[in-house]
Amino acid sequence: MMLLHKISYLFICICIYYTNAASPIDEVMDKLIKLISEEQILEPVKFRFPIWEKQLGLYRSEIRLDFFGKPYEADLRKNKYIYVFDNNMFATGWISAVLLEANMYGRAPLTIDNEHLSIAIDAIEKFHDHNQNESSVPLMTFWSQVYNQTTDTWQSAPDNLRYLITDFDKNLEVIEVILKALGIKNIAELIDKLRTSSAQFKDVFEIPPDFDDTYLNIGLGVQLKLLQDKYPSIYLRWLQTNSNMKKLIDLTLQYAYRPFSQDSDKNTIDPRTYYWLRDFIRDNPQAIIVTTWAQNLTEVKKIAHRGIRMPFNLNNVDVTVSANVLYGITSAIIYDLLDFKNYFTQDMETLYLSTGSLIAWSIKNSMKDRPDLAQVYYPSHYNFLWYGSRSLFLLELARHQNKSLPDVLNRVYTVLSDVYRNDVVKYFQQHVRLDKSSYDDFLGINDTNLFDKLEPTGEDRIFSTAQTVNVLISSFTYLDNATGKLKWINDRQIETIQIMVNKSISWLLENVFKYQPFNCFFSGSVKGFNQLPFWYPANIYQFLNGTTFDPNHFDINNESLVDAIVGVSGYINETTYQRMISEKHFNVSTPTIFNGYNVPGGEFPFWSSQPYTYSVTLLALAQYNNLDK
Ligand SMILES: *[C@@H]1O[C@H](CO)[C@@H](O)[C@H](O)[C@H]1NC(C)=O
Ligand SMILES: *[C@@H]1O[C@H](CO)[C@@H](O)[C@H](O)[C@H]1NC(C)=O
Ligand SMILES: *[C@@H]1O[C@H](CO)[C@@H](O)[C@H](O)[C@H]1NC(C)=O
Ligand SMILES: *[C@@H]1O[C@H](CO)[C@@H](O)[C@H](O)[C@H]1NC(C)=O
Ligand SMILES: *[C@@H]1O[C@H](CO)[C@@H](O)[C@H](O)[C@H]1NC(C)=O
Ligand SMILES: *[C@@H]1O[C@H](CO)[C@@H](O)[C@H](O)[C@H]1NC(C)=O
Ligand SMILES: *[C@@H]1O[C@H](CO)[C@@H](O)[C@H](O)[C@H]1NC(C)=O
Ligand SMILES: *[C@@H]1O[C@H](CO)[C@@H](O)[C@H](O)[C@H]1NC(C)=O
Ligand SMILES: *[C@@H]1O[C@H](CO)[C@@H](O)[C@H](O)[C@H]1NC(C)=O
Ligand SMILES: *[C@@H]1O[C@H](CO)[C@@H](O)[C@H](O)[C@H]1NC(C)=O
Ligand SMILES: *[C@@H]1O[C@H](CO)[C@@H](O)[C@H](O)[C@H]1NC(C)=O
Repeated sequence: MMLLHKISYLFICICIYYTNAASPIDEVMDKLIKLISEEQILEPVKFRFPIWEKQLGLYRSEIRLDFFGKPYEADLRKNKYIYVFDNNMFATGWISAVLLEANMYGRAPLTIDNEHLSIAIDAIEKFHDHNQNESSVPLMTFWSQVYNQTTDTWQSAPDNLRYLITDFDKNLEVIEVILKALGIKNIAELIDKLRTSSAQFKDVFEIPPDFDDTYLNIGLGVQLKLLQDKYPSIYLRWLQTNSNMKKLIDLTLQYAYRPFSQDSDKNTIDPRTYYWLRDFIRDNPQAIIVTTWAQNLTEVKKIAHRGIRMPFNLNNVDVTVSANVLYGITSAIIYDLLDFKNYFTQDMETLYLSTGSLIAWSIKNSMKDRPDLAQVYYPSHYNFLWYGSRSLFLLELARHQNKSLPDVLNRVYTVLSDVYRNDVVKYFQQHVRLDKSSYDDFLGINDTNLFDKLEPTGEDRIFSTAQTVNVLISSFTYLDNATGKLKWINDRQIETIQIMVNKSISWLLENVFKYQPFNCFFSGSVKGFNQLPFWYPANIYQFLNGTTFDPNHFDINNESLVDAIVGVSGYINETTYQRMISEKHFNVSTPTIFNGYNVPGGEFPFWSSQPYTYSVTLLALAQYNNLDK
């Protein structure tokens, strides 16, 4: 037995040795490129349940439910057949950006040709906000909109969810039949959960445009500008519908959160946001912080009944959105996108600095132990860290090219380089798995086996490990213009970083096709009872029609709660706030502790995209392959 074991061990070693010689990195990259391209929709598909609607040019993206625990429960989360295909621009925007970067900063075969990039960009084009009066305003929505004649507005429409819910009971019957045929256990639990979630899903149909998709599209525009030679005409087409930079900046500032403003449109925020970032605004009273939604209170009061409203009728701050906006602005300034620079006003500079500082502060303070509130829509921590590191990479590059930049960019560089080169490295060191090579976020980490023993499935392990490599490379290298290689910066810990990168790359090469390529790139803001905004201290309680109400004498089951605005206006000093935390709201104590994303009863819908995982893995490998060793 022992001998056999040794022989097979030897055999494996020889194999690895020879595969190494045959440059497995190239093979893996080829395979990834192929897998990603297979997930792009090349023929549009119409909805006819159980066949999902698929929009031409988009990449696969799925809505799943975060069940966890015993094998049959975990199966409801990861089953090959249990998901809703989702047509959103976010996944496709990121996949396109990442494919381009794998060739810009990495050494890899061509990741995407002109034709396929062209249909992806055309698909994204359909996600413009159509409620704008001016032309070419680059304001984007997560889902594309359809015109509603009754209300005379364009409304966000996640088509498969919409079709599914339109005839929900009939579709549930079909779902039940399919699940039974598949031999899936505990169907009743899933159906129950679907019924509950369907109510939440209804609200999401009404969402306004957001700054996250908006600035993702700006970053993409900058890349298209830089790659005009390689992908002719795509940038020119992009410009036709996205050129109104003045309006973009007006809107960014108009909807930003200014806690000390006298205007309630500007100083009011979701009580969940206030809970985690109140110390930041105490210390930065002049802050202007970018928000998630392009809508204010005055507008939601006017237009909610016409089918455009923020969830819970109020804006919030999500640190992942902040990271993407920061990147969009950084790239537009450094690479001079249209006339963007001309509108980089004093207020925009403040917004830029506040947003950069907030990202650094959040990381340094471990999100005040409330990642569920700080990354309210985007729970993947590794993904957030990568989005934030992308600005640092561009700023470092610009410094090496001696570009003259507005001083505020240098200030943000200082803040980001400190946090990414110290705190983030420590975070990775503290969270690396026992193999010292790979990383888990939260999908599947609380699964148990048939004997009730913890048995994590590592469904986001590929994604989290690849993003860790991407963060380290973004934080510690720059692209050398003369050689086209990524060079390590001078830093006392470079060797430590190189070892971390090497280990993760070896692990990825060996395991990339052994685990599920899931991720949790997006979610609803409510992950369970504790994430409902109503339980957090607030000082505004009113309905859309302006009538105020008393939360202590209000039945939480009353239907008019959907029209309630529960928010924090202005600044509340800490003494008062602590007292408010100790009080009940709607007869419920303030949830002050976060117990992770896998808590019984807290199963929530999440968005996963396999080609997104494969493309960030490709980026990690391509960049590693281009390091000046
Ligand atoms: C667009 O213009 C119309 C008519 O001037 C006005 O009623 C509407 O509120 C405007 N919409 C926006 C988003 O500014
Ligand atoms: C809120 O939106 C309304 C309608 O578009 C606008 O008139 C108002 O100026 C906005 N408030 C702020 C503070 O920008
Ligand atoms: C139009 O919008 C109203 C208000 O949101 C909604 O009740 C109605 O179902 C919508 N109509 C269609 C066809 O989506
Ligand atoms: C980088 O290299 C390109 C072509 O080699 C050149 O056109 C460009 O000016 C260089 N940029 C800098 C900042 O040196
Ligand atoms: C930037 O400036 C430094 C110092 O003046 C110089 O050594 C370096 O060559 C310059 N780099 C580029 C890309 O021009
Ligand atoms: C990382 O791996 C590369 C390539 O295998 C090697 O050249 C380099 O020495 C390694 N670095 C460290 C610090 O181990
Ligand atoms: C719901 O709340 C509203 C506003 O406070 C009140 O007018 C209404 O009577 C309540 N409805 C029920 C069924 O209690
Ligand atoms: C305002 O809205 C609430 C909730 O929808 C409702 O109960 C109340 O009657 C309304 N008040 C007025 C004055 O219309
Ligand atoms: C905090 O605010 C309350 C209410 O506005 C006020 O009475 C109290 O004096 C303030 N405390 C401090 C320390 O500013
Ligand atoms: C508040 O909750 C307690 C239990 O936590 C319950 O006994 C009480 O009836 C509730 N009060 C109201 C007004 O709902
Ligand atoms: C999930 O797993 C993590 C890591 O093993 C653990 O800290 C946490 O308590 C678990 N949560 C639940 C609800 O089991």
